[in-house]
Amino acid sequence: MSNGFASGGVAVVTGAGSGIGEAIGRRAAARGMGVVLADIAAERIDAIARELAHAGHEVVAVPTDVTDPGSVDALADAAYDRFGHVSLLANNAGLESLGNLWEIPPGEWHRLISVNINGIFHGIRSFVPRMGADPRPSHVVNTTSVGGIGTTPGMGAYTVSKHGAQEMTECLYLECAEAFPHVTVSAFVPAHVTTRIFEDLEPGENTGAAVEYWRGQLRAKGMAPADAARIFFDGVDRKDFWIITHPESFDRLAGRRSRLLAGALPPDAP
Ligand SMILES: NC(=O)c1ccc[n+]([C@@H]2O[C@H](COP(=O)([O-])OP(=O)(O)OC[C@H]3O[C@@H](n4cnc5c(N)ncnc54)[C@H](O)[C@@H]3O)[C@@H](O)[C@H]2O)c1
Repeated sequence: MSNGFASGGVAVVTGAGSGIGEAIGRRAAARGMGVVLADIAAERIDAIARELAHAGHEVVAVPTDVTDPGSVDALADAAYDRFGHVSLLANNAGLESLGNLWEIPPGEWHRLISVNINGIFHGIRSFVPRMGADPRPSHVVNTTSVGGIGTTPGMGAYTVSKHGAQEMTECLYLECAEAFPHVTVSAFVPAHVTTRIFEDLEPGENTGAAVEYWRGQLRAKGMAPADAARIFFDGVDRKDFWIITHPESFDRLAGRRSRLLAGALPPDAP
């Protein structure tokens, strides 16, 4: 039950063991929020939680596999048992995959869809009814991607999952507006951020060069995760639906997609 801590609100962050999720968790703690760090990488969230707790923050690490609805239910129970309230849910855990669609091993496809789409669905079903039943305002932010706006050949599993995540977020926005108007919903749409997402991706039979290319892109051109987290909270504070790290990339991809749809044009139209 609530122990009266976390007057700045309570954030639950999935994928909090690395990259963007870790930075969101750290920034939430710096803002005086109680923080629940969730990740399948238990040792990483334990280490971050120990460090933040040592600095005086109210943090708990809950090892969680977002592909497992029971594990996400247990995460919600742990968050409500500790803090009695959740004001911010960041459904952020995600994986990458590369290769033409016919080259992707079925196990990798299913794993990626399970994390990037089912993981968000599980977060919604475990938390939103409780957030909705609590009259205090709260906020759900799903991490999608510019990959969910445009089309990237050679990254099909990922972009399919992110289009799905984006659509799920828009649907959730409309459903909460109807059922729980005090629950705000946002899509956090990063482009290049320097994280381990491609470092953790094992090169496949045909994807060694692409994995190296994308690792290089994020190392060379990526935004620092702490900057992405700042943009995240600026958007949360404004209650923006779209929270975008790289507006120029977003505008280019969204503009192109709008033109294709409006003209019923094929994907390779100029
Ligand atoms: N880095 C980028 O350039 C970029 C761009 C667009 C979108 N994104 C999205 O941002 C989100 C965070 O990615 P990141 O770049 O920080 O990557 P990251 O690899 O650094 O962090 C992702 C975290 O998710 C965790 N995770 C993986 N599977 C999980 C599972 N089943 N259950 C719980 N946790 C799990 C990993 O252990 C890892 O700690 C992802 O949804 C990703 O698609 C990233």
